[in-house]
Amino acid sequence: MYTERFDKRNFNELRPMEAETGIVPNAKGSARFRIGNTEAVAAVYGPEEVKPRHIEKADRAVILCKYDMLPFSVPDRAKPGMDRRDIEISQVITNALNRAIILEEMPRAMINIRVYITQADAGTRCASLTAASMACADAGLPMRDLVAAVAAGKIGDSVCLDLTKEEEDFHEGEGATDVPIAFLPSKNEIVLLQLDGRVSKEDLKKIVEIGKEGAMKIYELEKKALKRRFSNESKS
Ligand code: CDP
Repeated sequence: MYTERFDKRNFNELRPMEAETGIVPNAKGSARFRIGNTEAVAAVYGPEEVKPRHIEKADRAVILCKYDMLPFSVPDRAKPGMDRRDIEISQVITNALNRAIILEEMPRAMINIRVYITQADAGTRCASLTAASMACADAGLPMRDLVAAVAAGKIGDSVCLDLTKEEEDFHEGEGATDVPIAFLPSKNEIVLLQLDGRVSKEDLKKIVEIGKEGAMKIYELEKKALKRRFSNESKS
C-alpha cells in the first residue's frame, strides 16, 4: 500500500517547477527546466550545414540530439561518454521533436540539440524534452507546438503523477510502474509513451489522463517563460 507520498504531495501534484529560456548566450536557442530535484539544460544550434553529409535529407531538416547526464547529477558519479541509456533517451527525444518541429521548412539543414542533466531525481527524459522544445522555440524554429512531458505511473495501488527516484524504487506489493509521456498539447497528440513495469489497460488510461493534466500545467509554464523572454527582448 502506498497511501501517502514520501514528499507529502497529492497523487496528482507536480513537483515545484522553474522554466527559463535564453540562458546560453552562444547557442541559437536555449532553456532550463527544473522539476523538483531534476533539472535539464538544453541548447540548440542551427539550422546549419549537415555533417556528416550522407545524413542530409533533400526535403527536410535532420535533428541530431544528444542527452548527457553530468557526472555530478546523480549520487554515484555518472560515467562520462554515452551509454546505452543515453543513446535510447537521445533517440526518444529526437522522435518526439521530429513531430514538433516543422522539418520540411528547412530542407538540407541540421538542427543540433544538446541536453545536459545537472541534477537527476527521476523523470530526466521528460524534463529534457520539455527543455529541448523550449530551446527550439527560443531559437525561432518553425514548430507545430511545444512539447510538454512528464512521467506518471502507479505505486502500489495508487496512480501517481511525476514520480521521484525514491518512488520509482518502491518495491512493496506490486512495486512501481513508470510511464514517461510527452504531448503536443494544442494538437492533442502523444509524441512519447514508454512503460517501465506492469499495468492493466484501465490503469494505463488513468495514468495517461493524469499525465495529460500534469503536462497542461507544464505547457502553461513553458509558454510563460517564452513570453517573458520575448517581451524582455522587445524592451531592450
Ligand atoms: O530519468 P528517467 O526517469 O527518464 O530515466 P530512467 O532511466 O528511468 O532513470 C531514472 C532515474 O534513475 C534517473 O532520473 C536518475 O535519478 C537515476 N539514475 C541514476 O541515479 N544513475 C544513472 N546512471 C542513471 C539513472
